[in-house]
Amino acid sequence: MSLLVTNIGELVTNDPARGGPLGVVGDAALVAEHGHVAWVGPARHAPQADARIDVHGAAVIPGFVDSHTHLVFAADRAAEFVARMSGTPYTGGGIATTVAATRDADDGTLRANLARLVAEANGQGSTTIEVKSGYGLSTVDEERLLRLAREVTDETTFLGAHVVPREYVGRLEEYVALVTGPMLTAAAPLARWVDVFCERGAFDEDASRTVLRAGMAAGLQPRIHANQLGPGPGVRLAVELGAASADHCTHLSTEDVDALASSATVATLLPGAEFATRSPYPDARRLLDAGATVALATDANPGSSFTTSMPFCIAVAVREMRMTPAEAVWAATAGGAAALRRDDVGRLSPGARADLAVLDAPSHVHLAYRPGVPLVRTVVIAGEAT
Ligand code: NIG
Ligand code: FE
Repeated sequence: MSLLVTNIGELVTNDPARGGPLGVVGDAALVAEHGHVAWVGPARHAPQADARIDVHGAAVIPGFVDSHTHLVFAADRAAEFVARMSGTPYTGGGIATTVAATRDADDGTLRANLARLVAEANGQGSTTIEVKSGYGLSTVDEERLLRLAREVTDETTFLGAHVVPREYVGRLEEYVALVTGPMLTAAAPLARWVDVFCERGAFDEDASRTVLRAGMAAGLQPRIHANQLGPGPGVRLAVELGAASADHCTHLSTEDVDALASSATVATLLPGAEFATRSPYPDARRLLDAGATVALATDANPGSSFTTSMPFCIAVAVREMRMTPAEAVWAATAGGAAALRRDDVGRLSPGARADLAVLDAPSHVHLAYRPGVPLVRTVVIAGEAT
């Protein structure tokens, strides 16, 4: 089964061979076959296909790659958000509230919540979504959350080291032994990645290194919540361990920026978190000017960033973080793919997965220029319109 998408006013390919940061092709068409991009070029030269979508001059972009979410949980924390907007600072302390609600919820409830949020994300153009555990924090519950996450994505991340759960408070070493022992044994077959919240009040440098090294020894690849609430060792550790990504990167020293710029570790920025915790935004311009690879992701979770919208993150990144619209769209597509070490998504050139979003707009610029407007008209995943 093949699909022709034609009369594309502006096709963002992210193919460096086509020039410019986004590899834009005007008056374009794209053919998908067996779920992958088979052909890209001028609409007038397009080959025939079994099915056809005429987008009448609209822009088409690669589907967003949301490389950082926490979508398996029960209950929201709207009251915490209200308190924050009246001046209560965000500390991550509310994670325990979600852990309690999630442990109490049955699989059916968690599965339904997850499905609703994934559908919400897909509808806004996200076609690859990473999902973390981290609201179970017991062997049984972390295994359960990863099994549910696996039902919706291959990009699953073991975050048993999110915070020290209530029953282990004051017993960090014992909890790290659990995370790196029985919990990891249960989680490893269900996860691709291992993550740790390396932050004051969560896991310090030594504990973070222990957790990530154990995960790596069990065949998982590392990524880190780093430098979110204050300066710290997270970014340095990410680079030391060759992590695919250091996420948040809100409080960076010059050494952190240089380390990211001279490594393959992607700086993943999560502006939804700064928005919803009323915190200073990360300095994307500084990272880009230094030569670091920058990704944008939602951090969707019920505490610090309850949005599944990549267009929202793009708009905030452009307005508040001094990214150009082209840089932000690249970061939300190809950047996310780099953060997940994927070369089959985040681009629209032959061989890539046929994952794309048709915009109700003539250009990718409108994603930032028309904030809050639902611009994603049609989403195609693996060659199938959803
Ligand atoms: O990435 N920082 C740690 N974890 C999440 C927040 C989780 C929560 O508040 O429930 C984050 O922002
Ligand atoms: Fe997060």
